[in-house]
Amino acid sequence: MSERFHFKDYSLAGEIEVPGDKSISHRALMLASLAQGESVINRFLLSEDCNRTIEAFKALGVQIETHGDQVLVKSEGASAFKEPSSPLEMGNSGTTIRLLAGLLAAFSFQVTLTGDESLSKRPMERVITPLTKMGAHFQSITGDNKLPIKINGGKLMPITYHLPVDSAQVKSAIILAGLLTEGQTTVVENNPTRDHTEKMLPAFGGSIKVEEQTVTIKGKQSLKPTNLTVPGDQSSAAFWVAAALITPDSHIKVKEVGVNETRLGFVNVLRRMGANIKVKVDRYIGDEPIGTIEVSYSTLHPTTIKPNEVPAMIDEVPLLALVATQTYGDMTIEHIEELRYKETDRISATVALLKNLGANIKASNDQIEVYGRTLLKGGQVKTNGDHRMAMMAVIASIISEKPVTIDDVECIQVSYPNFLDDLRGLLKEFV
Ligand code: S3P
Repeated sequence: MSERFHFKDYSLAGEIEVPGDKSISHRALMLASLAQGESVINRFLLSEDCNRTIEAFKALGVQIETHGDQVLVKSEGASAFKEPSSPLEMGNSGTTIRLLAGLLAAFSFQVTLTGDESLSKRPMERVITPLTKMGAHFQSITGDNKLPIKINGGKLMPITYHLPVDSAQVKSAIILAGLLTEGQTTVVENNPTRDHTEKMLPAFGGSIKVEEQTVTIKGKQSLKPTNLTVPGDQSSAAFWVAAALITPDSHIKVKEVGVNETRLGFVNVLRRMGANIKVKVDRYIGDEPIGTIEVSYSTLHPTTIKPNEVPAMIDEVPLLALVATQTYGDMTIEHIEELRYKETDRISATVALLKNLGANIKASNDQIEVYGRTLLKGGQVKTNGDHRMAMMAVIASIISEKPVTIDDVECIQVSYPNFLDDLRGLLKEFV
């Protein structure tokens, strides 16, 4: 159902805590399921994507209870996983399917994985190729390496794999397969991607070696249960960072948020553009830094993006394009071809959405060109069912002259169910 947003004459002010990190929530649940015993995960992100991971592990025989945002995981360990009696539905969740594929590759049973329309169009050969090299068998029912996929796993062989694409999901899938495989598995990446799996393993008693962009894991380690707290999601915080930056008179603080370097690309690029943003590390949860991000409305200038910066801001690029429409000068966001393989083709979707609102913006193969600075007029936009496109459109409505009508905001449930309530909490009407 479409909804209309109009917040002209509002600014953003105050402090906010965003819900738990999506990437970390998935990984915490997976590692807790592999550990024998009882783990507690606090501030788990209860969203549609993370619920897919919960349901998948329940189907494998793990006992999982949720009490508010606290999740209790009781497992008899990986050796007790049982063959699911029906296909596992992955919904919209790329992280669930890709990481789970790595895990399931090491079990000698057959599982079928299905997904929604968007996930069924996304490339899976990026995990199928390395996991097949390790000895697992995959059968794509439609024959194009896309969902639905049947996995016949078993005893795997360790490999050394150079990632052809910068992807934390693929890296993590191989790490998880390596964890369950006798011998030493190595993954080498070109540019650093989010390292939450590597940082979390020691909390579960596991060991992993990270040397620059090479990760090595020894297999057949047994994990121990633990209690951990998930930091706030920096990619959710990014919506408030962008909103405060482009809305006159705004000043906000996001607290208890993850500030892991491999996720700070957006903030680093914005700072180069002249953004007034302070990042403070307050403490560590295990190896994950958690802190405060403070941001004020700023005058912005264009910058160029280096290829090695892209993975650290991969989910924030649509927001960066929105920010670029408010920048004094023209800006090209380069090296972003990977955006074409997200929940929707985010290069085309971002350009179409912002153009509809009045931006002067153009797409080519692996870049978005934004000719600034333009007053956004408002209008009707499409999200293509993509949660991050929907939230970006809502943020764009704050600075639009006329209302913005968004075709689908229901998809926000995928990653940030309280997004609209949190927005209302931060908005202050000019007096
Ligand atoms: C994620 C990695 C990124 C990111 C996604 C979450 C993860 O995907 O876009 O939202 O949790 O590992 P890629 O690995 O495809 O870049």
